[in-house]
Order: sequence, then C-alpha cells, then structure tokens
Amino acid sequence: MRTMAAVFYAPRQPIRVEEVNLSDPKSGEVLVRVAATGACHSDYHAVDGHTKAAAVPLVMGHEAAGVVEKVGPNVTAFKAGDNVVFAIRPMCGKCKYCSTNRPNLCNGIKAKPGFMVDGTQRFSKADGTPLFHGLATFSQYTVVPEWTLVKVRDDVPIEKLASIGCAVVTGVGAVVNTAEVKPGSTVAVYGCGGVGLNVIQGAVIAGASRIIAVDIAASKFKFAKMFGATDTVLASETDPVKAIVDMTDGGVDYAFEVIGKPATVRQAFESVCAGGTACMVGVPPTDGEVTIPMRPLFLDRKLIGSSAGTGRPRHDFPWFIELYLQGRLKLDELQTRFRPLTEINEAFQDMLSGTVARTIIKP
Ligand code: APR
Ligand code: ZN
Repeated sequence: MRTMAAVFYAPRQPIRVEEVNLSDPKSGEVLVRVAATGACHSDYHAVDGHTKAAAVPLVMGHEAAGVVEKVGPNVTAFKAGDNVVFAIRPMCGKCKYCSTNRPNLCNGIKAKPGFMVDGTQRFSKADGTPLFHGLATFSQYTVVPEWTLVKVRDDVPIEKLASIGCAVVTGVGAVVNTAEVKPGSTVAVYGCGGVGLNVIQGAVIAGASRIIAVDIAASKFKFAKMFGATDTVLASETDPVKAIVDMTDGGVDYAFEVIGKPATVRQAFESVCAGGTACMVGVPPTDGEVTIPMRPLFLDRKLIGSSAGTGRPRHDFPWFIELYLQGRLKLDELQTRFRPLTEINEAFQDMLSGTVARTIIKP
C-alpha cells in the first residue's frame, strides 16, 4: 500500500513528509492505522544531533496509539479493529528481563536497528529504495511486530491514548516503578516537557508532599502547576540546586532529570539530601558522560537511571487508562495542540518554543 510518512535524512535538516510504500505484515507482524502520535523529544534528539540515528533514511515516530487494520500470519493476540498502544521497547516474554518483570530491558529480540527481526524492511521510497524504521508512527499506517503492541479497551477514544506508551510510562514509571517514591517525600523535577510533566503527575500519584518543578522556560510552569507541581524554580535566573536545598532544608528526597544533559544530571544529584535518590530519565547524548562529587555519594545518596520508566506495558497501560477514566491521570491536558503529519517540523518547533505540553500529530 501507499502511505504518507515522515522521513529523517540528516541532522539539522527538515524532516520530509513523503508518499512511501508499505508492504503487508509478515509472520507475527501487524498493520496498524496510526490514530495519533506525539512529537517527543526522543525523535528530535536525532534531528538536533544530541543522539545519532541508528540508520538513515529513517521513518520516525514512536509515541502513538492506533487501530489494527490487518494481521500477518501466526498472529493470535490481535485482530482487525483492535485498539492498540505502541510500547517503545519490544517484549519477547522469554528473556531474563521479561521473566523478572523488567520488560523495558528485554534483550531477547535480536533485530538490527532500523530492520525487522528477519533483516528486511517494510517501508520503501516511491522508487523502491528501502527505508529504515522502528515503530515508524509518523505515518498514516505502520507495520510492527506484535510483541510491541498492547491491546487496550475500546470504549476510550484511541487518540486520547497517544502518549501513554512513551511520555506517560516514562515519566510516571520513573517515579513509581524505578525510584519507588514513598508517600510524604519531597521531589524535584528538572525539565517540564511532555515527559517531565508526567514525572510531576507520577509524584502526585505516589503521594509526594512537595513537588518542585525546574525549567529554564517560565512558560512551562503553567503546565507544571496544572500537573501538580507545588513550587517552581526558574533555572535561567536562579541556581536551582541552591534554591532546592534552601527550600527543603538540605535537599529533596528524590530528584529527576528529564532533559538528557550531563550538567542537569549533576544538578539533580546535588539537589538530593543525604540518603536521597537522583534519577536520570532524559536520554543521554551519544557518548555523554557525567561526573559527580564523591563526598555526597558517600552519604547514602544514589544516582540511578530509568529506561522507559521501568515500565511493564501490559500491566501499566491498562492501569493508566483506568486512572484517566477516574480523573486521576491527566491525558487531555497533555494534548495542547493537534497538527497534521505535514506539519511535523512545526510540531517540533512547538516543543522547542515552550508553548505546549505536547503537540499531537493526527496522520
Ligand atoms: N534546566 C532546566 N530545564 C531545562 C534545561 C536546563 N538546563 N534545558 C532544557 N530544559 C527544559 C526545556 O525548557 C523543556 O521544558 O527541559 C524541557 C524538555 O522538554 P521537551 O523538549 O518537551 O522534551 P520531552 O519530550 O519532555 O523529553 C525530555 O526525556 O524521554 C526523554 O528523550 C526525552 O531526553 C528527552 C527528555
Ligand atoms: Zn518518546
């Protein structure tokens, strides 16, 4: 079939929206109509050169929800018409990690980045040149392995669930699954983008007492407060470490870095009290390194990483939907703006301008 898709060619160049070919799902694969997909900074990291794309030209996009259009041979868990949310990590269900409740670290599937596990691709350019792709949700249709999809209830409009598979599970999961924030704790959150806002609402769910939002853009604080921040620190004007240490008489119990920069990982570490935990959520730059002072570490402090929120998609996604329906998880407030796929570059500009929580693409 033919579909419109957003293709990344090279850093610091506009993403191109093109008509491309998409072949039928093979064994164990599913063709999904993408209903809504978020413009997440993880994709933009390749555009601004923070990380290196695994292979180019690449059909981008990973944060999405949609409807099953057609299933390939040997698919038993899905059928046409099913509502699905994409999980950003594959889950083989068999490896050490999947068997110990850490499917976010699954290493049982040996596919080269940009390829399906059989070593071929489903997307190609109009002239037949193969295109690399992961979940490839910046497209009207995509073909993915069934192990990356989570079937969800069909009585919630599927567009509402676009960000569950990335921003929500990464943010809320970092708080509840990775750091296991205890009720009554104090929390600081560096970076109030789409993911950081979900760290904030995760801290609300965990019963944190104070939730201090840190950002360099003051425009982000209206979103941060909406999601549950109790205090804000404008890091472009105030030293956030000093402010947090002063406000909490020695530092917060937990600090989350949700930007992906060495300097802010260090600031997060320096913001926690003795015995406290700093958690890196932002995607590090390719070859990024961070240094931390040893004396503070000696006082029972922890610096930990959180990957895809230590999420267990088949358990956590239905839980998030349940919370949403009960009014205990904000999803509507995350969708500040909708754009068509042709405005993918503008969607990333929205993100950089600080004017949105998330821009959602409806391809
Ligand atoms: N100090 C404080 N805040 C900062 C700083 C800084 N030095 N630099 C940037 N920020 C803020 C931005 O102003 C923005 O509000 O961090 C926020 C980042 O948000 P987004 O660009 O919306 O990114 P998001 O999609 O939330 O992703 C954040 O998490 O999952 C990862 O790959 C993702 O690394 C990325 C991070
Ligand atoms: Zn993402």
